[in-house]
Amino acid sequence: MKYYQNPPELNRSRKFPDNLVCAHDLLLKAKNGEKGNRKVERYAVPAFNVTTFQGINAAVEAFEILGASGLLAFSNSALKHFGRGDAVAGLAIASQYVETLAKTSTVKLATHLDHGDYMSETGRKVVQAAVRNLTSVMADNSTDKAAGKPTSLEDNIGLTREVVNMAHPVGVSVEGELGVLAGEEDEDTRAEESTYTNPVELEQFLKGTGVLMLAPTIGTKHGPNKGKPGEKVKLNIQLAHELLKIADNISDDIVFVAHGASTLYGEVVAYATERLKQLGGHHTDRTKWSEFVGTDWEQIKGLIGAGFCKINTDTENRQTYLAALLGAVAENAAKIDIRWYDNVTTRALTQSYLKKLILAGDYGVWHEPRIDVANFKFEITV
Ligand code: G3H
Ligand code: 13P
Ligand code: ZN
Repeated sequence: MKYYQNPPELNRSRKFPDNLVCAHDLLLKAKNGEKGNRKVERYAVPAFNVTTFQGINAAVEAFEILGASGLLAFSNSALKHFGRGDAVAGLAIASQYVETLAKTSTVKLATHLDHGDYMSETGRKVVQAAVRNLTSVMADNSTDKAAGKPTSLEDNIGLTREVVNMAHPVGVSVEGELGVLAGEEDEDTRAEESTYTNPVELEQFLKGTGVLMLAPTIGTKHGPNKGKPGEKVKLNIQLAHELLKIADNISDDIVFVAHGASTLYGEVVAYATERLKQLGGHHTDRTKWSEFVGTDWEQIKGLIGAGFCKINTDTENRQTYLAALLGAVAENAAKIDIRWYDNVTTRALTQSYLKKLILAGDYGVWHEPRIDVANFKFEITV
């Protein structure tokens, strides 16, 4: 592997069109607590996984309401969904859609490939297309998805470095992963066990790859079942601080990323359970809802102090969407104008996004919020 020379630095002179920016620019602002010309406390930028055009609209709406830094993340399966089974086609479609919205956006937006890998042939094609069309990519080479086992440190560094070599010179930021995260990553990938990032490997990984965004594993988990009901998820915040010290010694520009950062909102569970009862007969679904476990916000908040300024959030928004859809069907299951259901779920998604952005402190970055942030009340309405 040719990673003995210094990795290329992120080209900061690259200008993306209109209001599109490199994801790392937004994250560095968050790490340094910058909002407009003000210096505030460190905050985090939630990376929302979007899977439909309405989902993108809902997120952009929330960013604009709050004047927030906007990070839109596309998973491989989401890209396949946009592209009728073809992730590269989906990437072109989705990125053009965001580019159009960015022309008139009041905030800065970054587009990010979530869980891209540089191991498989298709993975490589999607990453290459993302470097051409998005402003940021994740090169998740910590697990060999086909073999279902962790990759060696050397292979992880080598593969991630290939992506940095390609992306940094054109101003596209790269996120690497070190350690294995448990849970459901995408429709094809699931790891039962998580292994914490080994601090001894961190310096070698960061220096060898040159990534400025790193997802260490400190106990978060993907998907709706992050633990057992009644058993709270506990993150290794001490390890997170230990890792931050090592990273800051290499460069203050390095930011950490928390995957599996979804919380679970009691009001969403209550709303969905109520609507399921109203619809009748869905006992197994009610049981599934009662078994959902998220990570308490207090835990995620603890990570922000340890430099986790990108917090990946998918599941909680899906739950809000689904709760709203159940509400819409319970209210009226004979609407022929299907945009009505779309509007109900899109409004709910916007609420879900607003909630997380406010919790993370991502508001008032590009302009003053258009709502009273302190008195925001999350509501699902039909
Ligand atoms: O961590 C990844 C996300 O939850 C992606 O989920 O692949 O089903 O879109 P997805
Ligand atoms: P959640 O499943 O907790 O929403 O995590 C999403 C994620 O990590 C996307 O990369
Ligand atoms: Zn993830």
